[in-house]
Amino acid sequence: MEEKHAAIEVADLTVAYQEKPVLWDVDMYVPEGILMAIVGPNGAGKTTLIKAIMGLIQPAAGQISIYGKPFREQRGLVGYVPQRGSVDWDFPTNVLDVVMMGRYGRLGWIRRPGREEERLALEALEKVGMARYSERQISQLSGGQQQRVFLARALVQEAQIYFMDEPFQGVDATTERAIITLLKELSAANKTVVAVHHDLQTVPEYFDYVTLLNVRCIASGPVEQVFSEENLRATYGGRVAFLTAAGNGAEQVEPAATTAGHGAI
Ligand SMILES: Nc1ncnc2c1ncn2[C@@H]1O[C@H](COP(=O)(O)OP(=O)(O)O)[C@@H](O)[C@H]1O
Ligand SMILES: [Mg+2]
Repeated sequence: MEEKHAAIEVADLTVAYQEKPVLWDVDMYVPEGILMAIVGPNGAGKTTLIKAIMGLIQPAAGQISIYGKPFREQRGLVGYVPQRGSVDWDFPTNVLDVVMMGRYGRLGWIRRPGREEERLALEALEKVGMARYSERQISQLSGGQQQRVFLARALVQEAQIYFMDEPFQGVDATTERAIITLLKELSAANKTVVAVHHDLQTVPEYFDYVTLLNVRCIASGPVEQVFSEENLRATYGGRVAFLTAAGNGAEQVEPAATTAGHGAI
């Protein structure tokens, strides 16, 4: 059997804020080309894990490698879609400019974006169904539309690995389908995607691998191996209701964030 390359390897990662550990001794192995969900309750450290991998937070201990090298040497291979609420969208910029910003890393600061960048940005907007909004101010879009623009921006980076923090948060069913189709396309092109995800029911359909996190890594690996009732219970405590007898998965007590509609897309 041929071993796949490790796109991401995390070993013994511990992160603390003001001495309080929020990630404890986490190991994670992500083969190239897979879609991995990170699931766990609020405050489990999911966002912190992504930020630590990307060098945005200094860990207390641990090793992180991207294709076998430290993140700082591999920056150009990595795209990031932050959690939506974490971004201030009030600045006066239109959609096309926001997407073109995704190219700056490739251009350097000396070359200004030109026709080629514009073409790539429009192509990415087309992919996420947002091309006709290219001239619109970013602040005048619905949450789901902003999410799509952010994805387009990540796409033009032409990264190998994408980190997405709750890409389905507050989007309607149509947008969710568009996003998952895109993720499957990325995976088919051998790109690796790690996404924080909240809807346990869709994990087996959307993802190949899953990491169950609650400060510690409860389990991490292929969905069919690690996405078990026992592991979910260990991750969520008593807060998960299960479809037992008929069951082939888990159901959340809290309604999934993804069902909140943003009508007009
Ligand atoms: N900048 C910060 N300073 C102090 N504590 C933080 C900071 N960011 C996050 N935390 C804490 O770390 C824990 C994990 O947060 P986070 O990674 O955002 O969780 P998740 O994304 O799983 O909801 C939480 O208890 C949160 O309150
Ligand atoms: Mg988070």
